[in-house]
Amino acid sequence: MLSQETRTIIKATAPVLAQHGTTITTEFYRSLFEAHPELLNVFNHANQAKGRQQTALANTVYAAAVHIDNLEAILPSVMQIAQKHVSLGIVPEQYPIVGEFLLKAIKTVLGDAATPEIINAWAEAYGVIADVFISVEKGMYDQAAEQTGGWRLFKEFTVVEKVQESELITSFYLKPTDGAAVPSYQPGQYISVRVKIPGEQYLMIRQYSLSKAADTETFRISVKRETDQDPNGKVSVYLHEQLEVGGLVEVTPPAGEFVLDESRQTPVVFLAGGVGITPLMSMTERLLQTSANRPIHFYHAARSEKDAAFADALTKLDAEQEHLSYISFFSETDGQFITREVLANVPQNADIYVCGPVGFMESMIANLIDLGFSQEQIHYEFFGPSMALKAL
Ligand code: HEM
Repeated sequence: MLSQETRTIIKATAPVLAQHGTTITTEFYRSLFEAHPELLNVFNHANQAKGRQQTALANTVYAAAVHIDNLEAILPSVMQIAQKHVSLGIVPEQYPIVGEFLLKAIKTVLGDAATPEIINAWAEAYGVIADVFISVEKGMYDQAAEQTGGWRLFKEFTVVEKVQESELITSFYLKPTDGAAVPSYQPGQYISVRVKIPGEQYLMIRQYSLSKAADTETFRISVKRETDQDPNGKVSVYLHEQLEVGGLVEVTPPAGEFVLDESRQTPVVFLAGGVGITPLMSMTERLLQTSANRPIHFYHAARSEKDAAFADALTKLDAEQEHLSYISFFSETDGQFITREVLANVPQNADIYVCGPVGFMESMIANLIDLGFSQEQIHYEFFGPSMALKAL
Protein backbone atom coordinates (compact mmCIF):
# COMPACT_ATOMS: atom_id res chain seq x y z
CA MET A 1 0.00 0.00 0.00
CA LEU A 2 1.24 3.47 -0.82
CA SER A 3 1.25 5.98 2.04
CA GLN A 4 -1.01 9.01 1.95
CA GLU A 5 2.05 11.22 1.56
CA THR A 6 3.24 9.27 -1.48
CA ARG A 7 -0.23 9.49 -3.04
CA THR A 8 -0.30 13.26 -2.54
CA ILE A 9 3.10 13.67 -4.20
CA ILE A 10 2.09 11.46 -7.14
CA LYS A 11 -1.10 13.37 -7.79
CA ALA A 12 0.62 16.73 -7.51
CA THR A 13 3.47 15.81 -9.85
CA ALA A 14 1.72 13.64 -12.49
CA PRO A 15 0.63 16.70 -14.55
CA VAL A 16 4.22 18.03 -14.50
CA LEU A 17 5.56 14.70 -15.77
CA ALA A 18 2.86 14.48 -18.41
CA GLN A 19 3.74 18.00 -19.53
CA HIS A 20 7.37 16.92 -20.06
CA GLY A 21 6.14 13.56 -21.36
CA THR A 22 7.87 13.46 -24.72
CA THR A 23 11.19 14.78 -23.42
CA ILE A 24 11.23 12.31 -20.54
CA THR A 25 10.31 9.33 -22.66
CA THR A 26 12.71 10.21 -25.46
CA GLU A 27 15.49 10.31 -22.86
CA PHE A 28 14.09 7.10 -21.32
CA TYR A 29 14.28 5.10 -24.55
CA ARG A 30 17.66 6.57 -25.52
CA SER A 31 19.29 5.53 -22.23
CA LEU A 32 17.34 2.24 -22.03
CA PHE A 33 18.53 1.09 -25.46
CA GLU A 34 22.07 2.32 -24.80
CA ALA A 35 22.29 0.10 -21.71
CA HIS A 36 20.10 -2.74 -23.06
CA PRO A 37 20.46 -2.90 -26.85
CA GLU A 38 18.90 -6.39 -26.74
CA LEU A 39 15.54 -4.69 -26.15
CA LEU A 40 15.73 -3.37 -29.71
CA ASN A 41 14.72 -6.92 -30.66
CA VAL A 42 11.43 -6.36 -28.82
CA PHE A 43 10.35 -2.76 -29.44
CA ASN A 44 9.00 -1.57 -32.75
CA HIS A 45 11.66 0.72 -34.21
CA ALA A 46 9.14 2.41 -36.46
CA ASN A 47 7.08 3.47 -33.44
CA GLN A 48 10.29 4.83 -31.96
CA ALA A 49 11.11 6.71 -35.14
CA LYS A 50 7.66 8.29 -35.18
CA GLY A 51 7.72 9.02 -31.44
CA ARG A 52 4.51 7.04 -30.98
CA GLN A 53 5.71 4.56 -28.39
CA GLN A 54 7.57 7.42 -26.73
CA THR A 55 4.30 8.70 -25.35
CA ALA A 56 2.37 5.45 -24.84
CA LEU A 57 4.34 3.66 -22.16
CA ALA A 58 5.26 6.57 -19.90
CA ASN A 59 1.94 8.35 -20.26
CA THR A 60 0.21 5.16 -19.24
CA VAL A 61 2.35 5.08 -16.12
CA TYR A 62 1.31 8.68 -15.33
CA ALA A 63 -2.35 7.99 -16.07
CA ALA A 64 -2.27 4.85 -13.94
CA ALA A 65 -0.57 6.78 -11.14
CA VAL A 66 -3.40 9.30 -11.09
CA HIS A 67 -5.81 6.38 -10.58
CA ILE A 68 -3.55 4.80 -7.98
CA ASP A 69 -6.35 4.85 -5.36
CA ASN A 70 -8.58 2.86 -7.65
CA LEU A 71 -6.58 0.84 -10.15
CA GLU A 72 -9.73 -1.19 -10.83
CA ALA A 73 -10.95 1.76 -12.90
CA ILE A 74 -8.21 1.30 -15.47
CA LEU A 75 -8.31 -2.48 -15.54
CA PRO A 76 -9.91 -2.66 -19.02
CA SER A 77 -6.99 -0.68 -20.47
CA VAL A 78 -4.49 -2.73 -18.48
CA MET A 79 -6.01 -5.90 -19.93
CA GLN A 80 -5.61 -4.66 -23.50
CA ILE A 81 -2.00 -3.55 -22.97
CA ALA A 82 -1.22 -6.77 -21.09
CA GLN A 83 -2.54 -8.81 -24.04
CA LYS A 84 -0.08 -6.97 -26.24
CA HIS A 85 2.78 -7.51 -23.75
CA VAL A 86 2.00 -11.22 -23.55
CA SER A 87 1.85 -11.45 -27.33
CA LEU A 88 5.30 -9.80 -27.42
CA GLY A 89 6.72 -12.17 -24.82
CA ILE A 90 7.37 -9.49 -22.14
CA VAL A 91 8.54 -11.12 -18.89
CA PRO A 92 8.52 -9.94 -15.21
CA GLU A 93 12.32 -9.51 -15.12
CA GLN A 94 12.01 -6.68 -17.65
CA TYR A 95 9.81 -4.51 -15.41
CA PRO A 96 12.52 -3.33 -12.98
CA ILE A 97 14.74 -2.43 -15.96
CA VAL A 98 12.04 -0.26 -17.50
CA GLY A 99 11.31 1.27 -14.07
CA GLU A 100 14.96 2.09 -13.45
CA PHE A 101 15.38 3.94 -16.74
CA LEU A 102 12.06 5.73 -16.48
CA LEU A 103 13.02 7.12 -13.07
CA LYS A 104 16.48 8.08 -14.30
CA ALA A 105 14.92 9.94 -17.22
CA ILE A 106 12.55 11.81 -14.88
CA LYS A 107 15.56 12.85 -12.80
CA THR A 108 17.58 13.93 -15.83
CA VAL A 109 14.79 16.03 -17.34
CA LEU A 110 13.39 17.60 -14.18
CA GLY A 111 16.82 18.21 -12.63
CA ASP A 112 16.67 19.75 -9.13
CA ALA A 113 12.88 19.89 -9.24
CA ALA A 114 12.92 16.09 -8.91
CA THR A 115 13.58 15.93 -5.16
CA PRO A 116 14.39 12.58 -3.51
CA GLU A 117 10.82 12.54 -2.09
CA ILE A 118 9.35 12.87 -5.57
CA ILE A 119 11.61 10.21 -7.07
CA ASN A 120 10.89 7.80 -4.19
CA ALA A 121 7.16 8.35 -4.55
CA TRP A 122 7.33 7.56 -8.26
CA ALA A 123 9.52 4.52 -7.66
CA GLU A 124 6.88 3.20 -5.28
CA ALA A 125 4.01 3.98 -7.63
CA TYR A 126 5.80 2.35 -10.57
CA GLY A 127 6.31 -0.76 -8.44
CA VAL A 128 2.58 -0.97 -7.69
CA ILE A 129 1.60 -0.49 -11.33
CA ALA A 130 4.23 -2.94 -12.56
CA ASP A 131 2.93 -5.55 -10.09
CA VAL A 132 -0.58 -5.17 -11.51
CA PHE A 133 0.72 -5.75 -15.06
CA ILE A 134 2.94 -8.66 -14.01
CA SER A 135 0.11 -10.42 -12.22
CA VAL A 136 -2.44 -9.86 -15.02
CA GLU A 137 0.13 -11.06 -17.56
CA LYS A 138 0.97 -14.15 -15.51
CA GLY A 139 -2.72 -15.11 -15.60
CA MET A 140 -2.75 -14.66 -19.38
CA TYR A 141 0.46 -16.65 -19.93
CA ASP A 142 -0.89 -19.49 -17.76
CA GLN A 143 -4.20 -19.52 -19.59
CA ALA A 144 -2.49 -19.51 -23.01
CA ALA A 145 -0.18 -22.31 -21.94
CA GLU A 146 -3.14 -24.35 -20.73
CA GLN A 147 -4.96 -23.89 -24.04
CA THR A 148 -1.93 -24.60 -26.21
CA GLY A 149 -0.31 -27.52 -24.43
CA GLY A 150 2.44 -25.47 -22.81
CA TRP A 151 3.27 -23.02 -25.61
CA ARG A 152 4.18 -19.63 -24.04
CA LEU A 153 6.68 -17.58 -26.04
CA PHE A 154 7.93 -17.59 -29.66
CA LYS A 155 7.73 -20.82 -31.63
CA GLU A 156 8.87 -21.59 -35.18
CA PHE A 157 6.29 -21.79 -37.97
CA THR A 158 6.71 -22.54 -41.69
CA VAL A 159 4.91 -20.72 -44.48
CA VAL A 160 2.97 -23.47 -46.27
CA GLU A 161 0.92 -21.31 -48.64
CA LYS A 162 0.99 -17.73 -49.89
CA VAL A 163 -2.16 -16.38 -51.59
CA GLN A 164 -2.66 -12.93 -53.09
CA GLU A 165 -6.05 -11.59 -51.92
CA SER A 166 -5.94 -8.16 -53.60
CA GLU A 167 -3.41 -5.91 -55.27
CA LEU A 168 -1.74 -5.14 -51.92
CA ILE A 169 -2.97 -7.82 -49.50
CA THR A 170 -1.47 -11.32 -49.38
CA SER A 171 -2.37 -14.18 -47.06
CA PHE A 172 0.25 -16.39 -45.43
CA TYR A 173 -0.72 -19.84 -44.12
CA LEU A 174 1.54 -20.78 -41.21
CA LYS A 175 2.09 -24.28 -39.81
CA PRO A 176 4.11 -25.25 -36.73
CA THR A 177 7.47 -26.53 -38.00
CA ASP A 178 7.43 -29.27 -35.34
CA GLY A 179 4.25 -30.71 -36.87
CA ALA A 180 2.11 -29.99 -33.80
CA ALA A 181 -1.55 -29.05 -34.20
CA VAL A 182 -2.47 -25.38 -34.25
CA PRO A 183 -4.36 -24.40 -31.08
CA SER A 184 -7.87 -23.01 -31.22
CA TYR A 185 -8.43 -19.28 -30.76
CA GLN A 186 -11.26 -16.79 -30.56
CA PRO A 187 -12.22 -15.10 -33.82
CA GLY A 188 -10.74 -11.59 -33.75
CA GLN A 189 -7.52 -12.51 -31.96
CA TYR A 190 -4.04 -11.73 -33.31
CA ILE A 191 -0.57 -13.27 -33.21
CA SER A 192 2.87 -11.68 -33.06
CA VAL A 193 5.16 -12.62 -35.91
CA ARG A 194 8.92 -12.22 -35.40
CA VAL A 195 11.32 -12.15 -38.36
CA LYS A 196 15.02 -11.83 -38.99
CA ILE A 197 15.27 -9.67 -42.08
CA PRO A 198 18.57 -10.08 -43.96
CA GLY A 199 20.72 -6.98 -43.46
CA GLU A 200 18.83 -5.82 -40.35
CA GLN A 201 20.71 -5.88 -37.05
CA TYR A 202 17.71 -6.64 -34.85
CA LEU A 203 14.74 -8.97 -34.94
CA MET A 204 11.41 -7.35 -35.76
CA ILE A 205 7.99 -8.15 -34.34
CA ARG A 206 4.57 -7.19 -35.70
CA GLN A 207 1.05 -8.16 -34.71
CA TYR A 208 -1.37 -9.53 -37.30
CA SER A 209 -4.99 -10.55 -36.84
CA LEU A 210 -5.81 -14.12 -37.69
CA SER A 211 -7.98 -13.91 -40.79
CA LYS A 212 -9.82 -17.24 -40.79
CA ALA A 213 -11.73 -19.30 -38.25
CA ALA A 214 -9.62 -21.63 -36.11
CA ASP A 215 -8.72 -25.09 -37.38
CA THR A 216 -6.02 -27.51 -36.30
CA GLU A 217 -3.91 -27.19 -39.47
CA THR A 218 -2.74 -23.61 -39.97
CA PHE A 219 -2.94 -19.98 -38.88
CA ARG A 220 -3.67 -17.49 -41.62
CA ILE A 221 -2.59 -13.85 -41.55
CA SER A 222 -3.37 -11.41 -44.35
CA VAL A 223 -0.86 -8.62 -44.67
CA LYS A 224 -1.01 -5.35 -46.56
CA ARG A 225 2.12 -4.42 -48.44
CA GLU A 226 3.19 -1.05 -47.10
CA THR A 227 5.38 1.31 -49.12
CA ASP A 228 9.16 0.94 -49.15
CA GLN A 229 9.49 4.41 -47.60
CA ASP A 230 7.35 3.65 -44.53
CA PRO A 231 9.66 2.58 -41.65
CA ASN A 232 6.70 0.69 -40.19
CA GLY A 233 6.43 -1.21 -43.46
CA LYS A 234 9.75 -3.09 -43.24
CA VAL A 235 8.22 -6.33 -42.05
CA SER A 236 5.31 -6.16 -44.46
CA VAL A 237 7.64 -5.54 -47.42
CA TYR A 238 9.86 -8.42 -46.29
CA LEU A 239 6.89 -10.79 -46.01
CA HIS A 240 5.59 -9.83 -49.44
CA GLU A 241 8.88 -9.69 -51.31
CA GLN A 242 11.15 -12.22 -49.64
CA LEU A 243 9.25 -14.71 -47.53
CA GLU A 244 8.16 -17.58 -49.74
CA VAL A 245 6.56 -20.98 -49.13
CA GLY A 246 8.99 -23.00 -47.00
CA GLY A 247 10.27 -19.85 -45.25
CA LEU A 248 10.30 -19.59 -41.46
CA VAL A 249 8.89 -17.10 -38.96
CA GLU A 250 8.44 -17.16 -35.20
CA VAL A 251 4.99 -16.81 -33.69
CA THR A 252 3.46 -16.34 -30.21
CA PRO A 253 0.09 -17.82 -29.14
CA PRO A 254 -3.10 -15.95 -30.16
CA ALA A 255 -3.96 -12.98 -27.96
CA GLY A 256 -6.31 -10.01 -27.89
CA GLU A 257 -9.69 -9.06 -26.57
CA PHE A 258 -11.41 -7.77 -29.69
CA VAL A 259 -13.34 -10.99 -30.15
CA LEU A 260 -16.75 -12.12 -31.31
CA ASP A 261 -19.27 -12.41 -28.50
CA GLU A 262 -20.66 -15.85 -29.25
CA SER A 263 -23.08 -15.85 -26.36
CA ARG A 264 -25.49 -13.56 -28.24
CA GLN A 265 -28.05 -14.27 -30.94
CA THR A 266 -28.45 -10.69 -32.22
CA PRO A 267 -27.79 -9.70 -35.85
CA VAL A 268 -24.11 -9.00 -36.46
CA VAL A 269 -22.83 -6.03 -38.45
CA PHE A 270 -19.22 -5.90 -39.64
CA LEU A 271 -17.74 -2.55 -40.65
CA ALA A 272 -14.38 -3.13 -42.32
CA GLY A 273 -12.01 -0.41 -43.51
CA GLY A 274 -9.24 -1.64 -45.82
CA VAL A 275 -7.04 -4.33 -44.32
CA GLY A 276 -9.08 -4.00 -41.10
CA ILE A 277 -11.22 -6.68 -42.72
CA THR A 278 -8.91 -9.44 -41.42
CA PRO A 279 -10.32 -10.13 -37.91
CA LEU A 280 -13.84 -9.69 -39.30
CA MET A 281 -13.21 -12.49 -41.82
CA SER A 282 -12.29 -14.78 -38.96
CA MET A 283 -15.50 -13.80 -37.13
CA THR A 284 -17.63 -14.30 -40.26
CA GLU A 285 -16.25 -17.79 -40.89
CA ARG A 286 -16.79 -18.72 -37.29
CA LEU A 287 -20.38 -17.46 -37.31
CA LEU A 288 -21.14 -19.46 -40.45
CA GLN A 289 -19.75 -22.58 -38.80
CA THR A 290 -21.57 -22.23 -35.51
CA SER A 291 -24.60 -19.90 -35.61
CA ALA A 292 -26.26 -20.74 -38.89
CA ASN A 293 -29.17 -18.35 -38.43
CA ARG A 294 -27.59 -15.24 -36.99
CA PRO A 295 -28.03 -12.47 -39.62
CA ILE A 296 -24.74 -11.01 -40.86
CA HIS A 297 -24.45 -7.61 -42.57
CA PHE A 298 -20.97 -7.08 -43.95
CA TYR A 299 -19.98 -3.56 -45.07
CA HIS A 300 -16.53 -3.22 -46.57
CA ALA A 301 -14.88 0.10 -47.41
CA ALA A 302 -11.85 0.01 -49.71
CA ARG A 303 -10.21 2.41 -52.10
CA SER A 304 -11.17 0.47 -55.21
CA GLU A 305 -12.24 -2.97 -56.37
CA LYS A 306 -8.66 -4.11 -56.81
CA ASP A 307 -7.90 -3.13 -53.20
CA ALA A 308 -10.84 -5.08 -51.78
CA ALA A 309 -9.40 -8.28 -50.31
CA PHE A 310 -11.80 -11.21 -49.87
CA ALA A 311 -14.44 -9.50 -52.05
CA ASP A 312 -14.87 -12.64 -54.19
CA ALA A 313 -15.25 -14.91 -51.17
CA LEU A 314 -17.77 -12.58 -49.55
CA THR A 315 -19.74 -12.06 -52.78
CA LYS A 316 -19.97 -15.84 -53.07
CA LEU A 317 -21.18 -16.14 -49.48
CA ASP A 318 -23.73 -13.40 -50.12
CA ALA A 319 -25.14 -15.48 -53.00
CA GLU A 320 -25.08 -18.77 -51.10
CA GLN A 321 -26.12 -17.77 -47.57
CA GLU A 322 -29.57 -16.32 -47.20
CA HIS A 323 -28.81 -14.58 -43.92
CA LEU A 324 -25.53 -12.93 -45.05
CA SER A 325 -25.41 -9.71 -47.03
CA TYR A 326 -22.22 -8.13 -48.33
CA ILE A 327 -21.88 -4.58 -49.65
CA SER A 328 -18.62 -2.97 -50.74
CA PHE A 329 -17.90 0.78 -50.95
CA PHE A 330 -15.11 2.04 -53.17
CA SER A 331 -14.00 5.53 -52.23
CA GLU A 332 -11.43 6.38 -54.92
CA THR A 333 -13.06 4.87 -57.97
CA ASP A 334 -16.76 5.28 -57.11
CA GLY A 335 -16.81 8.01 -54.41
CA GLN A 336 -18.63 5.64 -52.07
CA PHE A 337 -18.29 5.66 -48.29
CA ILE A 338 -20.03 4.00 -45.34
CA THR A 339 -21.97 7.11 -44.42
CA ARG A 340 -24.35 7.92 -41.60
CA GLU A 341 -27.21 7.22 -44.06
CA VAL A 342 -25.82 3.75 -44.76
CA LEU A 343 -25.48 3.05 -41.04
CA ALA A 344 -29.08 4.17 -40.46
CA ASN A 345 -30.09 0.86 -42.14
CA VAL A 346 -28.31 -1.24 -39.53
CA PRO A 347 -30.75 -3.26 -37.36
CA GLN A 348 -31.26 -1.41 -34.07
CA ASN A 349 -30.54 -4.50 -31.97
CA ALA A 350 -27.33 -5.44 -33.84
CA ASP A 351 -23.93 -6.10 -32.38
CA ILE A 352 -21.50 -4.08 -34.47
CA TYR A 353 -17.81 -4.91 -34.95
CA VAL A 354 -15.63 -2.13 -36.38
CA CYS A 355 -12.06 -2.50 -37.62
CA GLY A 356 -9.99 -0.27 -39.89
CA PRO A 357 -7.74 2.79 -39.90
CA VAL A 358 -8.15 5.18 -36.95
CA GLY A 359 -10.03 7.86 -38.94
CA PHE A 360 -12.44 5.26 -40.33
CA MET A 361 -13.14 3.83 -36.88
CA GLU A 362 -13.65 7.23 -35.29
CA SER A 363 -16.13 8.22 -37.97
CA MET A 364 -18.04 4.90 -37.77
CA ILE A 365 -18.25 5.03 -33.98
CA ALA A 366 -19.32 8.70 -33.89
CA ASN A 367 -22.08 8.05 -36.44
CA LEU A 368 -23.29 4.93 -34.65
CA ILE A 369 -23.47 6.73 -31.31
CA ASP A 370 -25.28 9.59 -33.02
CA LEU A 371 -27.79 7.10 -34.44
CA GLY A 372 -28.54 5.88 -30.94
CA PHE A 373 -26.50 2.66 -30.74
CA SER A 374 -25.18 1.99 -27.25
CA GLN A 375 -21.51 1.57 -26.31
CA GLU A 376 -22.26 -2.08 -25.46
CA GLN A 377 -23.36 -2.76 -29.03
CA ILE A 378 -20.23 -1.28 -30.62
CA HIS A 379 -17.15 -3.50 -30.46
CA TYR A 380 -13.75 -2.22 -31.55
CA GLU A 381 -10.13 -2.04 -30.62
CA PHE A 382 -7.77 0.66 -31.74
CA PHE A 383 -4.45 -0.79 -32.79
CA GLY A 384 -1.19 0.99 -32.20
CA PRO A 385 0.28 2.57 -29.12
CA SER A 386 -0.99 6.11 -29.60
CA MET A 387 -4.51 4.92 -29.01
CA ALA A 388 -3.83 2.94 -25.88
CA LEU A 389 -3.78 6.13 -23.89
CA LYS A 390 -7.13 7.32 -25.17
CA ALA A 391 -8.68 4.28 -23.57
CA LEU A 392 -7.50 5.36 -20.13
C1 HEM B 1 3.47 -1.51 -25.56
C2 HEM B 1 2.55 0.40 -21.22
C3 HEM B 1 6.19 -2.15 -19.31
C4 HEM B 1 7.48 -3.47 -23.77
C5 HEM B 1 2.91 -0.79 -24.54
C6 HEM B 1 1.79 0.09 -24.70
C7 HEM B 1 1.55 0.65 -23.50
C8 HEM B 1 2.50 0.10 -22.55
C9 HEM B 1 0.47 1.64 -23.18
C10 HEM B 1 1.04 0.31 -26.01
C11 HEM B 1 -0.01 -0.79 -26.13
C12 HEM B 1 -0.57 -0.96 -27.51
O1 HEM B 1 0.16 -0.83 -28.48
O2 HEM B 1 -1.76 -1.31 -27.61
C13 HEM B 1 3.45 -0.14 -20.32
C14 HEM B 1 3.47 0.14 -18.89
C15 HEM B 1 4.50 -0.57 -18.36
C16 HEM B 1 5.12 -1.30 -19.45
C17 HEM B 1 2.52 1.06 -18.17
C18 HEM B 1 4.98 -0.63 -16.93
C19 HEM B 1 4.21 -0.59 -15.88
C20 HEM B 1 6.85 -2.74 -20.35
C21 HEM B 1 8.03 -3.55 -20.22
C22 HEM B 1 8.41 -3.91 -21.48
C23 HEM B 1 7.45 -3.32 -22.40
C24 HEM B 1 8.68 -3.96 -18.90
C25 HEM B 1 9.59 -4.76 -21.89
C26 HEM B 1 10.80 -4.37 -21.91
C27 HEM B 1 6.52 -3.02 -24.63
C28 HEM B 1 6.57 -3.21 -26.07
C29 HEM B 1 5.39 -2.65 -26.58
C30 HEM B 1 4.67 -2.14 -25.44
C31 HEM B 1 7.68 -3.88 -26.85
C32 HEM B 1 4.93 -2.60 -28.04
C33 HEM B 1 5.26 -1.30 -28.66
C34 HEM B 1 6.41 -1.39 -29.59
O3 HEM B 1 6.64 -2.44 -30.16
O4 HEM B 1 7.10 -0.40 -29.75
N1 HEM B 1 3.32 -0.78 -23.23
N2 HEM B 1 4.46 -1.02 -20.61
N3 HEM B 1 6.53 -2.63 -21.69
N4 HEM B 1 5.36 -2.38 -24.30
FE1 HEM B 1 4.85 -1.79 -22.45
